[in-house]
Amino acid sequence: MGCALRNDGLVGRGTVHGNSLTMKSPALEIFPNAEAASERLATELVARVRANPELVLGLPTGSTPIQLYRKCVQAAQAGLDWSRVTTFNLDEYWPIAPSHEQSFTAFMHRELWQPAGLDPTRTFIPSGEVEPEAIALHCAAYETAIRQAGGIDVQFLGIGVNGHLGFNEPGADFAGRTDLVDLAEGTRQRAAASFAPVPVPRRGITMGIGTILEAREIVMMAFGADKAEAVQAAVQGEVGVHCPATALREHAQVKWWVDEAAAALL
Ligand code: PGA
Repeated sequence: MGCALRNDGLVGRGTVHGNSLTMKSPALEIFPNAEAASERLATELVARVRANPELVLGLPTGSTPIQLYRKCVQAAQAGLDWSRVTTFNLDEYWPIAPSHEQSFTAFMHRELWQPAGLDPTRTFIPSGEVEPEAIALHCAAYETAIRQAGGIDVQFLGIGVNGHLGFNEPGADFAGRTDLVDLAEGTRQRAAASFAPVPVPRRGITMGIGTILEAREIVMMAFGADKAEAVQAAVQGEVGVHCPATALREHAQVKWWVDEAAAALL
């Protein structure tokens, strides 16, 4: 398949770097492109669902997971039953109507939940239309729902060009829980064209970094040259809140699935 496990002393599980803050590097697998990475990931995910039809997944939105989701839909069309899988999405804009085509709820319906046949009672995403006075309760209920599902088995993630995880922008507390947060200006600018002519919401509800780190396993996907700096900072840079993705170095079961362009600076 043309992929290579990078283990050249630069990146590899347990590699000790000169800088004590980067003592442990994550497992990282490099593919020629997003298509090849998504194909392999989908094959592994399908096998996991076959082995455990009640798998609990954490899921991202954005361009990164689209090819993975398309392959999950193909598996459903070929007969795989997704109806007992439970999913928790990372984040949603606030405020936004779920019917708004740029809402992450609409994205999930379109790209995965509906075409793969997930059970609507087992697909969770923060609400973009919860009233301001009910947000704290809503966020606490989201955390409770994750716990009641038995916790997240596999959390899939994308990375922002600024290193964000979900809507946990630079500065976010590594112990944070699901909450209403401000979006970084750059995050809003990247979404501006798809929202035009209406402005991008200024806030979102996101799982906290602390919530994310409780997943038993984390799969980070990063594709394309515009992610190269964020990947380098997350994998090799100093751990700190300036780059939320460096929090993943505090988790024992993380694997990075990157394409050659995103790995170019490693
Ligand atoms: P993308 O977004 O998948 O659209 O690049 C990822 C992110 O910003 O978290």
